[in-house]
Amino acid sequence: MLFRWAEGVALQALWRHAIWLQAAPGLPEHRVENIFKPLATPAESEHNIALFVLAITAVIFLVVTSLLIYTIARFRGKAGDDARQEPPQVYGSNQIEIAWTVIPILIVFVLVGVTARVVASVEDAKPPASAVRVSVVGHQWWWEIRYPGLGIITANELHVPVSAPGEARPAYLQLESADVIHSFWVPQLGGKTDLIPNRENSMWLDPREPGLYLGNCAEYCGTQHANMLLRVIVHPANEFEEWAAAQQKTAAEDPAVAAGKRAFAVCASCHTVRGTSAKGTAGPDLTHLMSRETIGAGVLANTSANLLAWVSDPQRLKPGCLMPRMGLTGEQLSSVAAYLETLK
Ligand code: CUA
Repeated sequence: MLFRWAEGVALQALWRHAIWLQAAPGLPEHRVENIFKPLATPAESEHNIALFVLAITAVIFLVVTSLLIYTIARFRGKAGDDARQEPPQVYGSNQIEIAWTVIPILIVFVLVGVTARVVASVEDAKPPASAVRVSVVGHQWWWEIRYPGLGIITANELHVPVSAPGEARPAYLQLESADVIHSFWVPQLGGKTDLIPNRENSMWLDPREPGLYLGNCAEYCGTQHANMLLRVIVHPANEFEEWAAAQQKTAAEDPAVAAGKRAFAVCASCHTVRGTSAKGTAGPDLTHLMSRETIGAGVLANTSANLLAWVSDPQRLKPGCLMPRMGLTGEQLSSVAAYLETLK
């Protein structure tokens, strides 16, 4: 348990480092205010348990350290002691032995009982009729996000409505993986849940405040694991419906970028642009690419310059990612980037 707490402290340090990285030039600066400030029910339950465990382990630490210091001070060697003579040896004390067996057992039972109760209350929660259902598929190294009930497919940025008290609209996530094990983690909303191949896991979130919540993949999944970033955008009431309605539309058609659309044909075996002949499913759906703040799973801000740099050579920006350099001419690359910019 103490180890868990230490892990939390270390992660907090790493997290600050990650924020610093995300504030690199070209990326919109978004700060995680405080990972110890939970803003959803599952995160809060887990936070409370962590504090409870911390309090118990702190008491144990204080008792053990005080006894140790007392013993060292009280029984230290004094001037005039006969160095050849051992101190009196004491063997066996039923009272003390029973105490130091029974008390830790009771502590362990309390910790297990409290933890099991919270785990069960989070895991067994039944989705209300108002719940938004989302299916999240982990890929090396990006997140596919589907809303089966709404007919929306997007990537890396999960949009959910705010879940105000009295008007709960939790998001229920079904988690799967297309390749290796990943882990979905948005600290202010809930604990980590793994995305495991050939298995369905689930979790839920009910964010109380609109805004942007940052997360990332929390299970090492290959060279670009650290660049498998996740954004959760929590919309104020009604705004989620507006976002969903915009996402449900097929891709915008702009005759001005017809050349780019033709050149995009080489991308179509991996990417879908709904309403066109591009129907690939290996990479992210690009139907509404420009509605996303970032590209490359949070690696770059979604700007014209970054988009062009990305299609020109994804391997330079995210080495090892599955998108190859397509060998297009400079003119074709510019036209593809211009076409992508119309996918609002
Ligand atoms: Cu996906 Cu680490």
